[in-house]
Amino acid sequence: MLIWEDDLHLKVNDIHFHLTWDSAELHRGSSTVDDFLLGKSRDMVEKAVEIGKQQNIKKVLEMGIFKGGSVVLYDQIFRPLKFAAIDYMPQPVDALTQYIAKHSKNDVIRPYYGVSQADRLSMEKILSSEFPDRDIDLMIDDASHMYEETRDAFNICFPYLMPGGTYLIEDWAWAHWSDELWQGKNSPFYGKTALSNLLIELFMLAASRPDLIKNIFVNHNSMLIKRGDGVLPTGNFNIGDHYLLRGKHFGAWL
Ligand SMILES: C[S@@+](CC[C@H](N)C(=O)[O-])C[C@H]1O[C@@H](n2cnc3c(N)ncnc32)[C@H](O)[C@@H]1O
Repeated sequence: MLIWEDDLHLKVNDIHFHLTWDSAELHRGSSTVDDFLLGKSRDMVEKAVEIGKQQNIKKVLEMGIFKGGSVVLYDQIFRPLKFAAIDYMPQPVDALTQYIAKHSKNDVIRPYYGVSQADRLSMEKILSSEFPDRDIDLMIDDASHMYEETRDAFNICFPYLMPGGTYLIEDWAWAHWSDELWQGKNSPFYGKTALSNLLIELFMLAASRPDLIKNIFVNHNSMLIKRGDGVLPTGNFNIGDHYLLRGKHFGAWL
């Protein structure tokens, strides 16, 4: 049961969430075992609730733990049987460790720290041991938001998504947002390849292989990719091998 106190404060089954988009506040703040900091807006939370109504979510992978807020939120909303989460930062999030212990979720919530989403060896090890049947219902990429890493992660993870499953990429549109943080020369994103290049590749894949990508829903910050029923090739999957381009090569130019 979700109770919105206001657009930034949410209570789900006795767990409080403080939502913020402010990067300084997110870095400064911390979570506690029943009060988590969440780097999302209200409409992103509502979208997740909607996904849960349309799909029975039993197995989840999330990239990007940060202060643990989204892992706990999705656990509360979906009540999955298995939820693996990875993050590049090496140190565990205390509040999440305590939440797992308090709710006896050691076998359900499996956080992995010090893992890059683009590191095929480490990611394959986690995916194949946690999800040997390649039956993940929902994957959320809220990690680097960089084109190269996000693309690598898609190539690694997509073969573990169930037919009919959902792959959600958050904040795909940062290169086009109208704020100094995104457009300015001091931005950590300055000079980086736009993530929208991946969106173009995914559109092309949906056109060439509708059996792999059934449809894509896009708004100003999220893209939601629905997997088709097609059988994925064995061996390392690479999106670039599966869309047709009349013999031309796609180079990320944005
Ligand atoms: C936007 S925050 C995640 C916010 C969290 N999902 C939430 O909603 O509260 C992004 C996280 O991704 C992690 N990250 C950045 N680059 C990464 C990479 N290449 N692989 C894995 N995690 C990465 C960062 O350490 C950070 O914790």
